[in-house]
Amino acid sequence: MRPAFVAGNWKMHTSMAEATKLARAIAARARGSSNVIAAVCPPFPYLAAVRSELEGSTVLLGAQDVYCEKNGAFTGEVSAAMLVDVGCTYCIVGHNERRHIIGESDALVRRKVRAVLAAGLTPIVCVGELASERDGEETVGVVTAQLSSAIAGLPADDAARLVFAYEPVWAIGTGRNATPDQAEEVHAHIRKFLADRYNASLADRAVIQYGGSVKASNAESLLRQPNVDGALVGGASLDATEFLAILETATRAAS
Ligand code: PGA
Repeated sequence: MRPAFVAGNWKMHTSMAEATKLARAIAARARGSSNVIAAVCPPFPYLAAVRSELEGSTVLLGAQDVYCEKNGAFTGEVSAAMLVDVGCTYCIVGHNERRHIIGESDALVRRKVRAVLAAGLTPIVCVGELASERDGEETVGVVTAQLSSAIAGLPADDAARLVFAYEPVWAIGTGRNATPDQAEEVHAHIRKFLADRYNASLADRAVIQYGGSVKASNAESLLRQPNVDGALVGGASLDATEFLAILETATRAAS
């Protein structure tokens, strides 16, 4: 049985005071459960402070991005070892805002996945199509190409450590979420892709989150889909009550 995994992606939001308050509220009220994992991914400058707030709780820490080199003259960048050092367990890699706003290539995403794994962190590998690609019925092709590139040459032992997030770009921050059927179709495809590329048992154990305008009011129908194993939550994760309600829903759906 796969655990459900709900992660909050705070993006470039919050101040120090807001970040610590939000983390404190989530840590205080998140119920531990053996089949549900919760994590929050604050902005880099607040990672250490948020880690302190999460201490003693079941909520884990994640980063929103990383650089692929171990260290060196890479002004402004942060290494995976630094993220481990500050207490991260997870790192989002290849979020569509990085692919489409910052201009990250598939090749860079692949190098980041490798760097994150080498440091002992768990990558949350994001894939998803643009609105025009969905309209052109290219969704499966786009997602397959992103996945193939992200895991190219990765041995099964490493691939077994990946978490995936399907995030249709047209559903992110728009209030327009994929229907449960649309999400399930792509999640099932991702699982089949992993089974074909590796093996059925690895595919069966892979955790695949859905992301894109998930909130307390729509989480239930998405999380009830057989291949949807949790959520990567943006906007709604900035509200402790909303985030905790999604976590509760995931706990119910996983039990
Ligand atoms: P959203 O963002 O929930 O605000 O749509 C999700 C994400 O980008 O991870």
